Amino acid sequence: MQLFTSKFDIQQHISTWRASGQVVAFVPTMGNLHSGHLSLLDTAYAQADKVVVSIYVNPSQFSANEDFDSYPRTHQEDLEKLKQSGKCHAVYSPSEMYTDTHATYLHPAGVALGLEAVSRPHFFSGVATIVLKLFNHVPAHKAVFGEKDYQQLMVIKQMVDDLDIDIDILPSPTIRDKNGLALSSRNGYLSAEERQIAPYLHQILAAAADDICAGKEVSPVLEDAQDKLKQAGFDHIDYFSYCSQADLSPLTSFSHNSILLASARLSSTRLIDNLLLR
Ligand code: PAF
Repeated sequence: MQLFTSKFDIQQHISTWRASGQVVAFVPTMGNLHSGHLSLLDTAYAQADKVVVSIYVNPSQFSANEDFDSYPRTHQEDLEKLKQSGKCHAVYSPSEMYTDTHATYLHPAGVALGLEAVSRPHFFSGVATIVLKLFNHVPAHKAVFGEKDYQQLMVIKQMVDDLDIDIDILPSPTIRDKNGLALSSRNGYLSAEERQIAPYLHQILAAAADDICAGKEVSPVLEDAQDKLKQAGFDHIDYFSYCSQADLSPLTSFSHNSILLASARLSSTRLIDNLLLR
């Protein structure tokens, strides 16, 4: 496993792989790797000859009041986990991403509107901008994004289609604790008491999915789910929505290929999760 910090070096290295006919898959991350990230690596490894993982905590996707400074940075442990996995051929940990004069940002619309964007209006601009830069530095054939951040996955797919970027986007399923809690670096912020409450997010999504599949009216199911989250101890529900998987437009009755998406807060920790109804 080789470590790169310069965009020129990683670009050149990947060009050599591509020139010798090897298929390259890319897994962008912000580090603090857990089993969820390692499963993205599995998806990449299964579909490529070479796998590149980037580690970069991207300032432009955090707003001033968010956790950029406290976001967990565990570089040595991350490198060790990637090495141990035996599935990562190169790590890209850029030494510089934004110059002092950087002034160009993408502003995605379409699937980037609503849901996450309501509480984090800056977020998808930062994500799209950094992912486009990373795709330029790491010219892979494929890139893997987790379904846990479903709206982010859709924003990246939309960007790739709209801007004619020559890369295949591969979705990778959400990995959960035994109690159902979707793995996330931000779970590390939860207190022992909040850890007992957090798994209800998945359980309540699953119950709502059952009700919608059973033909119950969507709007009362969504309201009931939000009440249950509050009763379980969540402090605030940002959204609990039932949408089309294809374009995230809201649905009012059961439909195939739909998705329930939710975001709820436990004091200052914001959790997101979703459930695909296939
Ligand atoms: O999902 C993440 O970890 C980040 O949003 C990403 C895609 C690496 C961009 O910084």
